[in-house]
This record gives sequence, C-alpha cells and structure tokens, in this order.
Amino acid sequence: MNHNRLISISDLSLDEIRKVFALTERLKKFPKRYRNALDGQIFGLIFEKPSTRTWISFETGIFSLGGGAIYLGPEDIQLGVREEVRDVARVLNRYLAGVILRTFSHETITEFGKYFERPIVNGLSNFEHPCQALADYFTLSEKFPKSVKPIVAFIGDGNNVLNSLILLAATLGFPLRYATPPKHQPSASLLKQARSMAQKSGAEIFGTQDPEEAVYGADVIYTDVWVSMGEEKRRAKKIKAFLGMQVNAKLLKKAKKNAFVMHCLPAHRGEEITNEVMESRRSIVFDQAENRLHVQKALLLHLCSRKGKEK
Ligand code: CP
Ligand code: NVA
Repeated sequence: MNHNRLISISDLSLDEIRKVFALTERLKKFPKRYRNALDGQIFGLIFEKPSTRTWISFETGIFSLGGGAIYLGPEDIQLGVREEVRDVARVLNRYLAGVILRTFSHETITEFGKYFERPIVNGLSNFEHPCQALADYFTLSEKFPKSVKPIVAFIGDGNNVLNSLILLAATLGFPLRYATPPKHQPSASLLKQARSMAQKSGAEIFGTQDPEEAVYGADVIYTDVWVSMGEEKRRAKKIKAFLGMQVNAKLLKKAKKNAFVMHCLPAHRGEEITNEVMESRRSIVFDQAENRLHVQKALLLHLCSRKGKEK
C-alpha cells in the first residue's frame, strides 16, 4: 500500500483509515498540541477548478500545523498546457513537501503521481473526491455509536463523490445504496473493484434507479449537485435526466425517522435538494464541511509520516 498518496480511496487500507480517523479525533480535540507538526513544510495547492471548502480547509489546516501553503489557481501553472505534467511534477518535487491537486481529468493526477515523490492528495477530479468521502464518514462516526454501521442512501449523479463513497463503503464495510438515472451510473470498473473489496469487508452495495427504494429504511440520505464543475454546457440535458431525484421532504419521509441529510456542498437549492431540507434539523451538511478541515489535517500528517520521504 502506498502510504504517501491519496489519489483514490483505494490508496488507503482499512487500518490506515482507522488510524486517520483516530488522529482526527485527537486533532479536533487538542489542535494546539499539533501546531508544529508540519513545521516549515511548504505545500502547493494546484487547482484547475474553483473551490471553497477544499482550498480553505487545506490552507488553514496546513498553517495550523505550522506549515505553509501556496495556492495556484487555474491561470497559474496550467498543467499540461504551459508544460507537460511530468515536467511540472519533477520541478515541484524539488521545492515542495507535498501537493493537493484539483483537476478536471483524473489522469492528470495519476500522471503527476508517477513523477512526484512526496505526498499527493486528490482534492477532487472528475473521477473521485476521496477527502470528501473520508470527512463524510468521520462525520457519521460522530453521530452514530461505534457499533453501528449506518445505511447510507446516495441520490443523484454517479459522479466523483459517489465513486469515492462506494470505495469507502467497500473498505469500511458500511451498507451503501445509490439511486442514479440510467445514463449517470457510477463507474463500472470502480464498482467491480468495490465489489471485490466488499467480499472482505462485508459491505452491501446496491444500485437502483428509484430514489424511494434507495432511501427506504436508510439512516442517511446523501446528495450532490446534478451539474458538476466543468459540465455547465450540459446543464439543460442533465437537469432533465435527474428530474424525480430531488431530496425533498416527501423523500425524507421514506427514510428512517430522524435520518440525517448530507451534501458535499456547494448545493443548488431547488435542484438536487430543497431549501426546506437543507435548513432542516436533519441536515448535517455544515458538520461535514467542518470535518474536511480536521480529517485532512490528520491525513496530511499520516501521509507525511512515511519514512524516508521527509523533506
Ligand atoms: N465539497 C467541496 O469539495 O467543496 P469545494 O468545491 O468548495 O472545495
Ligand atoms: N460533483 C461535484 C462535487 C463538488 C464538490 C463537482 O465535481 O463539481
């Protein structure tokens, strides 16, 4: 298992995820104890797309651990446009302690990873959003007793967020149901990988096109935008494909009483989720957002602790 990169959820073993969550608990309770943990280490945040949570939580997280961060937006490095990804990776290898990458194409991160020897974190690609999934499940671990594996129902696009949740369910062994329109299902190859992992963890992963079937008896309802970053031109077509997939009060009634509602944010109220549900007491979306900070701090410390890789 490669300990110094999180490009996909499958880069972390069950044991590593448990360690990251245990460290997250300590970091959240006693943040000052860790204020020199990344002393003098400088990270690059290379973002091809906009961000609020990922950018700010990584940047504040790194500063709060005593490190430094350089944000590089879409106009700056221009991976693969101004120069080849492999050349950028080999140059940054000589300056930085690690990178957080947000790219359009997942291949850009994997290509970068072939040439960059220090910690790399996927801060969202078209294929996965592993930091989000980790923070989400950490949030659920705070809401449910340790012995409970909540049933999570994801309603919406079979996109990056769902792909990472599927791999996380397969690793940790929690039940995951998803409802997606026929043409917007999660990656078939990733599902195959998840099903093979689930043989060990016992995770039940189930897909349907019917949101009511997915949420029936669920402890948690999760959704994400219908139109992701970079898909704006497909907006009209996508909205049409997702009609009937909205997380609203009627759908919530089909889940368990007091089921929680999650959303990775940003939300498009009135599309994938109603304002009423977002603002309801069932919504834990801001706890999820907060935990991005704590989980990612733990993740960076975990990745940077790999022997022989310190700068
Ligand atoms: N959830 C999430 O990754 O948010 P940002 O796009 O604002 O980083
Ligand atoms: N699926 C969304 C997630 C945003 C955090 C996107 O890729 O835009």
